[in-house]
Amino acid sequence: MNRRTTVGIHDLSFASAEFVLTHATLAAHNGARLAKYHTGIGQQAMSVPAADEDVVTLAATAAQPVVQRHGTDRIRTVLFATESSIDQSKSAGVYVHSLLELPAATRVVELKQACYAATAGLQLALALVTRDPGQQVLVIGSDISRYPLDSPGEATQGAAAVALLVAADPALLRIEHPSGLYTADIMDFWRPNYLSTALVNGQESISAYLQALEGTWNDYTKHGGRPLGDFAAICYHQPFTTMAHKAHRHLLRHCGHQSEHPATTALTCTTAYNTQLGNSYTASMYLALAGLLDHADDLTGQPVGLMSYGSGSVAEFFAGTVVPGYRRHLRRTAHRTVVDRRQALTYARYRDLHETQLPTDGGDHPLPPQTTGPFRLAALTGHKRIYTPR
Ligand code: HMG
Repeated sequence: MNRRTTVGIHDLSFASAEFVLTHATLAAHNGARLAKYHTGIGQQAMSVPAADEDVVTLAATAAQPVVQRHGTDRIRTVLFATESSIDQSKSAGVYVHSLLELPAATRVVELKQACYAATAGLQLALALVTRDPGQQVLVIGSDISRYPLDSPGEATQGAAAVALLVAADPALLRIEHPSGLYTADIMDFWRPNYLSTALVNGQESISAYLQALEGTWNDYTKHGGRPLGDFAAICYHQPFTTMAHKAHRHLLRHCGHQSEHPATTALTCTTAYNTQLGNSYTASMYLALAGLLDHADDLTGQPVGLMSYGSGSVAEFFAGTVVPGYRRHLRRTAHRTVVDRRQALTYARYRDLHETQLPTDGGDHPLPPQTTGPFRLAALTGHKRIYTPR
């Protein structure tokens, strides 16, 4: 058995928030041209969490169907990637471990590097499973993207969680070696611990992303990666969906390719969910993968590129091959329901939710029941978050 080609993503499930704000509603409030949102940044709507939702409830909701399908016996590790962390000490994954009733004999840890961290989780998981193919690793990326009201970033907000089950002999995508790597110490986007919304140099962050793409691609080819012409599709990190098109054009130019590359057509499938959910940071590139697998024509045996970017910045380009029979394991209907079930917000209701801060006084604060999802943040008491099944 070639260990490097038989480890990968065995299952993929995502969840999003209770509410949705359409860009039509946002544009009606701020006077922006709707075409700027729909065509310029490629966004139709953004998910907005209820007062009793956070990265833990989103993550548990994403992972529950995975655990229901595969059981918990082989899961020995949970890697929780987020940049919307709720605690400086305790991993958000430990709450998810409890809500999903995973075995005590599990290692659980939280990972952070902006939007990139779920890819770090995936790569660590591949190493663990390669060492012991009997184990499975649950990798979760869960984030809530928030910018100040009326700022340019506001239209790119969103919320979602993705759960990946990483296993030997995977049902969906075999992840290949090598990876292209790139790190640069820059301040394109960041959020100090005392702020609840991100700071960003918008245009600079776009250039930083493209530079990182070039760097990671160069490293990928230097280490013997596939030529660009091999790829049936490439899933890019999507802070807003036209960024995937910008990145793809940039990569084609960098490699001296024409725009009619097959992966250009597939881009539309990769944006199917992100255009409706908004930026979900660590989950974004994996929602692009879900969009591709759920919407593209049969990809059996085809190589797919994955370009993960996290501001600050770290990027990784790597590839996977789609496994024969993968379509039987997809969750198309459930994923469509995640998008369609959200309740539309008025602008005023959105603004209320955006401005609401959780109490920090350590008192007893039950939270209003709003979510219709399977888990909720029921209360804050003595500085502790109390989660319950709904
Ligand atoms: P802005 O200044 O409001 O928008 O902010 P703009 O004026 O640059 O317009 C956006 C696009 O819409 C432009 O297209 C316009 O031409 C077009 P482009 O020239 O770029 O191709 N446009 C129109 N199109 C059709 N009809 C119209 C119209 N008007 C304008 N009427 C910006 C845009 C992205 C800067 C802002 O939303 C922002 O600051 N976003 C947050 C930062 C961000 O997403 N950066 C992306 C790269 S960094 C990253 O990916 C990491 C991240 O996910 C965080 C992490 O890693 O943790 C963010």
